[in-house]
Amino acid sequence: MALRRIAPEQVQLGMYIQGFDGSWLDHPFWRTRFVLDKERDLIRVHESAVDAVIIDDALGIAPEPPPAIQREPSAWQSPARPAAPAWRPAAAPAAAQPQSFASSYARAGRVFGKSKRVISAVYSDVRLGKAIKTEKLMPMVDEITSSIDENPRAFISIAQLKSGHEYTYMHSVAVCALMINLARELRFSEAAVRDAGMAGLLHDIGKALMPVEILDKPGELTEEEFEIMKTHPMRGHELLAKSSGVSHNALEVCLRHHERFDGQGYPDGLEGDRLSLFARMSALCDVYDAVTSERAYKRPWTPTESVARMREWTGHFDPEMFEIFIRSVGIYPIGALVRLKSGRVAIVTGENREDPTRPPLASVPDALHPESERLDSAVEEIVCMESAEGLSLEGWESQRTKLIRRFRS
Ligand SMILES: [Fe+2]
Ligand SMILES: [Fe+2]
Repeated sequence: MALRRIAPEQVQLGMYIQGFDGSWLDHPFWRTRFVLDKERDLIRVHESAVDAVIIDDALGIAPEPPPAIQREPSAWQSPARPAAPAWRPAAAPAAAQPQSFASSYARAGRVFGKSKRVISAVYSDVRLGKAIKTEKLMPMVDEITSSIDENPRAFISIAQLKSGHEYTYMHSVAVCALMINLARELRFSEAAVRDAGMAGLLHDIGKALMPVEILDKPGELTEEEFEIMKTHPMRGHELLAKSSGVSHNALEVCLRHHERFDGQGYPDGLEGDRLSLFARMSALCDVYDAVTSERAYKRPWTPTESVARMREWTGHFDPEMFEIFIRSVGIYPIGALVRLKSGRVAIVTGENREDPTRPPLASVPDALHPESERLDSAVEEIVCMESAEGLSLEGWESQRTKLIRRFRS
């Protein structure tokens, strides 16, 4: 018997699982000893909240050697970024230890999955008329912040790659992450960063009170349905005002995230400086996440396309804040699937600081080219973003991490 304790993200198909470290509530299996041979079980391990997994090398495959440690390019960890916050959860890796991108990416995936489950439970409670307990959400905001501090590109890339399923919850987590990242770019204090994250998480809580048939409607809304949906900021604000521990900024973001800088938004048509800093931040984070997401009725816009189109919406956003926001997000999320002019599908494996529209790419295997290979991004041209579901790529989630690990330069 050769027992080993490894991180959940190191677990691969074919390993013999001997046990899990941490509470049994944190792992998704009713049994512990088994050979991991199903793709969906692998994803459950990767997304679980356990600290470590104990495997037996004698009964299953051994882990790969750990990937080389590398620091992210300095612009993403600029000196402006504050040091690790004092409230970083004990279980999180220390920020002083640089993590490889692949391990940050896997960790971000787990934090994202866990956050999605927590926020969906909050929505269920609200639908049942229960109060929101923000103190229970704070550790999650801290964990998201910690993941963003470790590597903002990893978490934001994961958050942008969501598919149509459970959109509202994933959108809440994504807006939380974008708010935290923007708050860091704006050099907010630690307390204000947390406040921004919490505000992002709760901004659409009024949607929990909207009729489900409108909220989950697969197509575009009728005018009448849209009028009903437009009440969600007010309904959310009323709800949060009655809840304990909700900050002034979170209330403000909930009520004002659909206001526009030129006064053409709702519910009150406030304009310019009458909108708080947090409200102006949230308008950007909310729209950016919505347009880069895939919905049943629209393909996701590429980040480059989103930035270009949002820039054309004169009057919608605070122009100064817009530029800061663009700086705070990358362009193509790492791990995104893109269609090339040649017709092939590729995965984005890194970023190109000189020309963000031409990121490093690797081909996704297809019938004609069964082996994945690094592509010349100076030659290949990206036409649009694709989704794994749209392409029916089986087992894509674990494949994605492997390709990033293999081709990340
Ligand atoms: Fe909203
Ligand atoms: Fe929203």
